[in-house]
Amino acid sequence: GNVAIAIDGPAASGKSTLARILADQLGLVMVNSGAMYRAVTWKVLREGVDSHDAGAVIRVLRETILECGDDGRYSTIKVDGIDPGDELRSEAVNANVSAVSAVPEVREALVALQRDYLKRASVVMEGRDIGSVVFPDTPYKIYVDADEEVRAARRRDAGELDAVSKRDAADSRRATAPLMVADGATVLDTSDHTIESGVAAAIEILKA
Ligand code: CDP
Repeated sequence: GNVAIAIDGPAASGKSTLARILADQLGLVMVNSGAMYRAVTWKVLREGVDSHDAGAVIRVLRETILECGDDGRYSTIKVDGIDPGDELRSEAVNANVSAVSAVPEVREALVALQRDYLKRASVVMEGRDIGSVVFPDTPYKIYVDADEEVRAARRRDAGELDAVSKRDAADSRRATAPLMVADGATVLDTSDHTIESGVAAAIEILKA
């Protein structure tokens, strides 16, 4: 059967970089679940809908065709036939994605699409609730973390003005699938790791 490696953690913890390199090295498809929450948020904003109006967000969700696929290495996403590209990482999406992703109906729909990936391929999936909700039965779970200052510096280096700590706080206190260390997950703190040594540490965790 297909295998899922679950990589969870807060923003700018290094989880995306780690997930991408692991997927490349192991020959698995890397799935960015955050892009799906960002895609729904992008559509919500295009419709001029208030991201805090859960009823309106659900109406947008029902009217939207999300096509989640992959190019053989990485997940791809289309919203009503359009690839939003870099717009998924706009400041407007950053500012509204936590509200949209707190809506249980949104999570239910996207978790189903995330599980579909495993029917097609073995995956490294990164997000907030992959080990806790999407694939709770996988033995391969890593929770990636890093000190607040290290994460802030990484964002600055990437030129991002994202209000990361606000987003992390919202993601951690929501009622449905809050960011947490899943049962059976191993915490990997990347504060004092280089990319290479972080990958090596992750491989050791997966082998254990
Ligand atoms: O770019 P960054 O790693 O900070 O975030 P992301 O993985 O692109 O996720 C963006 C947002 O989507 C998060 O702040 C969460 O609000 C939401 N998200 C979620 O609720 N559950 C997931 N599995 C992935 C993302």
